[in-house]
Amino acid sequence: MCGIVGYVGHRRALDVVVEALRRMEYRGYDSAGIAILDGKGGLAVERKAGRLVNLEAELAEIGEEHFAGTAGMGHTRWATHGRPTDRNAHPHRDATGKVAVVHNGIIENFAPLREELEKSGVELASDTDTEVAVHLVARAYAEGPTAGNFVDSARSVLRRLQGAFTLVFAHADHPGTIVAARRSTPLVVGVGDGEMFIASDVAAFIEFTREAVELGQDQVVVITNNSYEVTDFDGNTDVATRPFTIDWDLAAAEKGGHDYFMLKEIEEQPAAVADTLRGHFVDGCIVLDEQRLSDQELRDIDKVFVVACGSSYHSGLVAKYAIEHWTRLPVEVELASEFRYRDPVLDRSTLVVAISQSGETADTLEAVRHAKDQKARVLAVCNTNGAQIPREADAVLYTRTGPEIGVASTKAFLAQMAANYLVGLALAQARGTKYPDEVAREYQDLAAMPEKIAELLTGMEPVRALARELSASPAVLFLGRHVGYPVALEGALKLKELAYMHAEGFAAGELKHGPIALIEDGLPVIVVMPSPKGRAVLHSKLLSNIREIQARGAVTVVIAEEGDETVRPFADHLVEIPSSASLLQPLLSTVPLQVFAAEVAQARGYDVDKPRNLAKSVTVE
Ligand code: F6R
Repeated sequence: MCGIVGYVGHRRALDVVVEALRRMEYRGYDSAGIAILDGKGGLAVERKAGRLVNLEAELAEIGEEHFAGTAGMGHTRWATHGRPTDRNAHPHRDATGKVAVVHNGIIENFAPLREELEKSGVELASDTDTEVAVHLVARAYAEGPTAGNFVDSARSVLRRLQGAFTLVFAHADHPGTIVAARRSTPLVVGVGDGEMFIASDVAAFIEFTREAVELGQDQVVVITNNSYEVTDFDGNTDVATRPFTIDWDLAAAEKGGHDYFMLKEIEEQPAAVADTLRGHFVDGCIVLDEQRLSDQELRDIDKVFVVACGSSYHSGLVAKYAIEHWTRLPVEVELASEFRYRDPVLDRSTLVVAISQSGETADTLEAVRHAKDQKARVLAVCNTNGAQIPREADAVLYTRTGPEIGVASTKAFLAQMAANYLVGLALAQARGTKYPDEVAREYQDLAAMPEKIAELLTGMEPVRALARELSASPAVLFLGRHVGYPVALEGALKLKELAYMHAEGFAAGELKHGPIALIEDGLPVIVVMPSPKGRAVLHSKLLSNIREIQARGAVTVVIAEEGDETVRPFADHLVEIPSSASLLQPLLSTVPLQVFAAEVAQARGYDVDKPRNLAKSVTVE
């Protein structure tokens, strides 16, 4: 949610900043803006509502020569305070035009700060919470104990701010220095040769360096072309940071011949699942990536909560079936935004599994903090190395999909399901509810899935054709049972967010309790069939459900295992998936639903990478 970048080095800052914004545009695309320090006391700012292309057109019109300089910063916005207009776009400047700021997050005490500034005669030029920060820094630089000291002025203001934020400040009279700070929202430093970067995401600077440093909570970093210094908000240098080397390259952040990142990411799913599983079954044992819990603590777990949002939540719903089946532990799956507000019963023998692709979703992070306050153990499933959620967890399992740029989750969702299965097996192993040979057999079934996903992906053309055929439908319903139910929810979410179409997922058994009233002539209903062997009883019940909706005029699209001949008479359209262990079927049945949603969206003329109103990571509640 909002992408920010800062640069000091030897290249033309304009090029570096605009390219970084292009790579981070998935974080928000309500507006984009840049500030370039010319090195002679000047600060050139341009910002524009809408996508980055609008800003680029503006820059071309003004003439790039007006943005000369080797230091600068940029912002791509997902609007929180203030409408997505030019005047609310970042960077914001003080009245002298010398100081500029970009911001990700929310300054919660902006109202009293704004009042204080207005009383002292400052006129604010936007409706944002952000703008107060730049005026406060300008004032602290102009007068008082930090006068004339840019870095100390910034620190003195940071100490006054409440909320979650990453802020970057530039001062025209200090063109070789950029100051940035973080509390709860992400910030990484890129360490180059004679150049330094700061950004919300390493994708911003991967082209130039793979050496990065992750900042901790409430830290300030000051970059110059050949140094970075990290302190706390008081200026103490005794703080912990985490240097790391980025283990993916530029190609992973490019579209690789596809029209959209999302289409590439759907194709990458076999590798995403294989990479997530790799290295986690060693000498007959499931191993996590980070494990700060003792074996005894794991054995003592007597209840599991899974907390997450959106697609990650759906992956948690799938996990419930597997974890309960394998461990006999009760599992509750909860929307992270609800969890801490209802006083859940937690203690030191509760395990909270927090699932988050970004590792920075505010609701999930706060659920983790609430769980830890109540002494519960926390295990994070995350795709972003070292993000805040895994940092605060007691154990971590990383999904290894590389960057997911398409805003709608695809490969991250499949990888989360794979990781969640590993969590279930790790718990079963620790608690002894599965013998080692049983754990090994389950793992082998899992390890066979990437090949099946790859096989499934080669046959998606009929799904695309069907999607084009049904793209004008006003609505689509999705039905499933058992692990197929969360898949139905995920299929509906994909269609809503990408194609802006009314879509609902239901547990098929609930149909007669209300939703069947929605069925009318020609309404497409997508049904996820359970395995005819593994779930024979549910399979026959679902066939009856299909019969009922067909009788009422629904157009049925049935996703069923290869060789499941019994479904043919009930399927107006049949989509076959490879057969698999029935608990693992969501790793396959989700794929045609992703392809379907992406194709409907394209047929309706929408940008599948950047659906309206959404952002990739939601760092505000
Ligand atoms: C939907 C989607 C979102 C995310 C949700 C959680 O396609 O991507 O629903 O799953 O915002 O995000 P993370 O996993 O980053 O916590």
